[in-house]
Amino acid sequence: MKHSNVFYRSLEKKYPLLDRGEGIFVWDDCGRRYLDGASGCVVTNIGYGVQSVAEALYKEARQTGFSHGTTFTNRPQEELARLVTEDAPPGMDYVYFVSGGTEANETAFSLAIQYHRQKSNHKKWKIIGRRLSYHGSSFATLSTAGNIERRSLYSPLVMPFPLVPAPHCYRCYCGATYPECGISCARELENTILAEGPENVAAFIFEPIIGTSAAASVPPAEYFTMVRDICDRYDVLMITDEVLCGYGRSGLYMAMDHFGVSADLVTLGKGLGGGYAPLGAVLMQEKVYEIFNNNTRNFIHGYSYQGNPVSCAAGVAVNLYIKENNLFQQVEEKGRYLKGKLNEVAAGRPIVGDVRGMGLLLGLELVKDRETRESYPASIALAEKVRAIAMHELDEGLLVYTGVGRTADIFPRDYLLVAPPFVIEKAEMDLLVDLLAGAVDKACESLA
Ligand SMILES: Cc1ncc(COP(=O)(O)O)c(C=O)c1O
Repeated sequence: MKHSNVFYRSLEKKYPLLDRGEGIFVWDDCGRRYLDGASGCVVTNIGYGVQSVAEALYKEARQTGFSHGTTFTNRPQEELARLVTEDAPPGMDYVYFVSGGTEANETAFSLAIQYHRQKSNHKKWKIIGRRLSYHGSSFATLSTAGNIERRSLYSPLVMPFPLVPAPHCYRCYCGATYPECGISCARELENTILAEGPENVAAFIFEPIIGTSAAASVPPAEYFTMVRDICDRYDVLMITDEVLCGYGRSGLYMAMDHFGVSADLVTLGKGLGGGYAPLGAVLMQEKVYEIFNNNTRNFIHGYSYQGNPVSCAAGVAVNLYIKENNLFQQVEEKGRYLKGKLNEVAAGRPIVGDVRGMGLLLGLELVKDRETRESYPASIALAEKVRAIAMHELDEGLLVYTGVGRTADIFPRDYLLVAPPFVIEKAEMDLLVDLLAGAVDKACESLA
């Protein structure tokens, strides 16, 4: 390959050149086809090459191109705000658009801290996060997440925000078993708020379904009512990070909709722009809006690309495509079928310790021993091995997303996230599973 001026994420890897995409497939410039079983990184929810989105981008780029948030609003922003709030939980009527998940979470933190300041609670600035979590690459979002490797790189800059255990029953941090545990991980939130002093805690952020740090781990439903109650008791805003698990990925608009609990602030990203444009959002409950409206009437925060008309135009077109094709409704049924097929893969392969998740957000955990749940040593990098085989060594490429889970529970784990675009058809799911089984088998041979 000729010299490149790009500074890549890994200087070791060779990155194939992406040539085009259509539906659930992408092709590189050598003509190799890849089935995208991960929607990029859980982004391309409506699949590749949707013409109506491309046309919307083109039209808005010609019409306005840019509008700055301190000067103008714009039609796509207004329309997208209407669309995303109309299906949101009651009272969640306001939204702030940004360029992605990290910015959405940063914005939610700023909203939470300023919300309390407007109520004259000037000390409330701490954001509680969870040990198994990822909320973005900025220092504030890293400060609320449990990724040890990334945190330790920047330790003087990462704020000492408290982390509580996540409800991950396959590997319970509290060493307990559900339901006898009484959801002790939720009670840890209350203990932590009390230890920090409720007067110092602004918000609690979590992923309703844990994404990359625990491969689609779904908590028991009671967890959500318990943490809602605790947040209310101590005037701590509940922020749900639905950047990965939201916007239909779990089969409903928001993952929290499965549990009948509503947050104060919800962050969206990834699927909102569907990969066609960088886009994120923070939706807020009326009580948050009203505090600003009745006090300073000013949110001190902003980005050049907030509410960008071209990005929002993509968001509108993605939303309309989802609605016209009833895609959220299809996710549940497709997810059930795909999970069943993944369970068949696991049945004959003891290396697959667990199959989990809901909708089209599914995860596999690879283990050395299914009974004890012992993982392979990190030096083997098993999940990465499977990912690389699936992509490069099979007759046809398959893309899956990996996590090593080196989070605050210390031990590295081998996760594979399977999250194809919502437009995947049954025969394509069969192909995905066959390719994945082939990659797992080949990785097992290399272990022997
Ligand atoms: C749950 C979650 N939140 C936030 C982010 C950060 O989003 P972005 O990469 O768009 O900044 C991610 C990205 O993977 C994520 O999975």
